[in-house]
Amino acid sequence: MSKEALIKEIKGLKQERNAIILGHNYMDMDVQLIADFTGDSYDLAVKAMETKAEVIVFAGVRFMAEQAKALNYDREVLSPDLNAGCTIADALDTETLREYRERYPGVPVVLYINSNIDVKAMADYIVTSSTAVKAVRKIPGDTVIFGPDYNLATYVERMTSKKIIKVPPNGKCIVHGNYVPDYIREARTKYPGAKVMIHPEAPLNIIDLVDFVGSTNQMIEFARNSEAREFIVGTEIGMINALKLKVPGKEFYPLTTEPIARCPFMAMITLEKIYRSLRDDVYRVEIPGNIAEAVREAFERTRKLLG
Ligand code: 13P
Ligand code: SF4
Repeated sequence: MSKEALIKEIKGLKQERNAIILGHNYMDMDVQLIADFTGDSYDLAVKAMETKAEVIVFAGVRFMAEQAKALNYDREVLSPDLNAGCTIADALDTETLREYRERYPGVPVVLYINSNIDVKAMADYIVTSSTAVKAVRKIPGDTVIFGPDYNLATYVERMTSKKIIKVPPNGKCIVHGNYVPDYIREARTKYPGAKVMIHPEAPLNIIDLVDFVGSTNQMIEFARNSEAREFIVGTEIGMINALKLKVPGKEFYPLTTEPIARCPFMAMITLEKIYRSLRDDVYRVEIPGNIAEAVREAFERTRKLLG
């Protein structure tokens, strides 16, 4: 089927099934253009929670689709490809987290939204790249258990000066976790005058070299409000699509064009698979009711804390 025909079919099925397509900022341009809403993990979770549509097609990785299902349990949530995982989420299992809870009784457990759903159900608080620092500052006490992303944990530690017990000690993103300082130096030489934006899943030795640290939506805001006209984008390469769509008239350059710049899991979501999702009702995201309830409670507790 041609791309135009595919888009027409998706639009028709969306209407027929009262469906909404939520897309992450890293999606391919075609997917971002067909999505009803694009955003970062936090905004997508809130959108999923509030939608009245009967079906949510989640154009993002699995932990995002699972989060949507947990927050709006009566809706049908479809993932175009359930193999779209995340190396951060896969770094932590329930057994390991249970051990940490027992070793540090009474210490609050803060989990990054990039966690698998059974693990996330054990969290006291669920944070995203846009909310982690603010939330941890507001959690009573001076110590938290934080996982599964090691780099985000070290960034939160620096920004809050709380003691952060990292679980596991080595969870990392396949993209940001592999950035090296030379990428920043080379990009600055190539694009002098451009501001460098970085995601907090990158290590501190990268964060120390940049102009702005934030979630994908916060990068959009920074680029929109900055007087600068050029930006080096230190996150997954699909983000350039979101920036082009949402901040017209400015220039965006990838921090690196090495293959690591593309998340292989985000890349699994295509127009063809979105069409198949809506046509064949696949793949339904199913999670047990008690797990969904625990995730909902931790997410709501965190939202209250954020005010
Ligand atoms: P954001 O919440 O900043 O969009 O990040 C999601 C993610 O997977 C980062 O790699
Ligand atoms: Fe996970 Fe990194 Fe891919 Fe985001 S970019 S989904 S954190 S592996």
